[in-house]
Amino acid sequence: MDQQPQNTTEEALNAKFEARIAAGETIEPKDWMPERYRTQLIRMMSQHAHSEVVGMLPEGNWITRAPSLKREMVLISKVQDEAGHGLYIYCGTETLGVDRAELVDQLLSGRAKYSSIFNYPTLTWADMGVIGWFVDGAAIVNQTVLAKASYGPYARAMIRICKEENFHKKQGYEIIATLAKGTPEQKAMAQGAVNRWWWPSLMMLGPSDTNSPNTAELMRWRVKRKTNDELRQRFIDLTVPQADAVGLTLPDPDLKFNPETQHYDFGAINWDEFWQVVKGNGPCNRERLQARRDAHENGRWVREAAEAYAAKHSSPAQSAA
Ligand SMILES: [Fe+2]
Ligand SMILES: [Fe+2]
Repeated sequence: MDQQPQNTTEEALNAKFEARIAAGETIEPKDWMPERYRTQLIRMMSQHAHSEVVGMLPEGNWITRAPSLKREMVLISKVQDEAGHGLYIYCGTETLGVDRAELVDQLLSGRAKYSSIFNYPTLTWADMGVIGWFVDGAAIVNQTVLAKASYGPYARAMIRICKEENFHKKQGYEIIATLAKGTPEQKAMAQGAVNRWWWPSLMMLGPSDTNSPNTAELMRWRVKRKTNDELRQRFIDLTVPQADAVGLTLPDPDLKFNPETQHYDFGAINWDEFWQVVKGNGPCNRERLQARRDAHENGRWVREAAEAYAAKHSSPAQSAA
């Protein structure tokens, strides 16, 4: 019978929490929240942080091969921004009472997921353009909505991050616009990158609503405010006119404006490919994880030195000396 008062308290707290969510209030780290809300947020935010960090790899691969000093400087700063996004979201995740070392361990051991898109290779310079245009473009569509998420630290992180993502998208689109009006070879390179990245970019917005087990719960808690299919449609509607404007073709014969729905209809997405990539069998999954493991190992001495320094300066004997 000891159970009774505890359950009642839990129920009352839960009812209050749901009422706050329904009223559009923001939940802050010290507020009471259901355990499931906390763990779902940890899963979602840490996946997001991992994606920012792993997302540096495909583009980092081209920093030393950028075609000019200006392009190199822009790409370096873009990749640095992604590192910052990762750190920012890891910090946000830590407000939920989880240690960053545990999150990193989940990534490196292959237990945590990150965005499927970063498991594709970057084969030409035009891929830098298309990644900014499509991948950062899709990220903006997703993150603009997350900026209204019910969990305060996540929502606030998104506001700042979206500002930088807008710059990322513009720099990518500008690379593509430049190539598209260049020599026939440059235009072909841009078209080739568009052809390779279009479908994976649509998949990046997540499985279809009929196959997305977490969506309903996250929508109810106002962590997600739009479903994956709604976000995908928005990305497509924004991107088709941008492709037209630079004279490039999106590789989907079924892509057509539908005057009734006021949206673009599009062809079937190859979900088998998506699930294969998510399960670790994409073109670069192993390479990406290995690169992160190597980076973690190579940074060990920095973490150890920082810890030794912090310990030395926090000991009273040392401070007195
Ligand atoms: Fe980012
Ligand atoms: Fe970005």
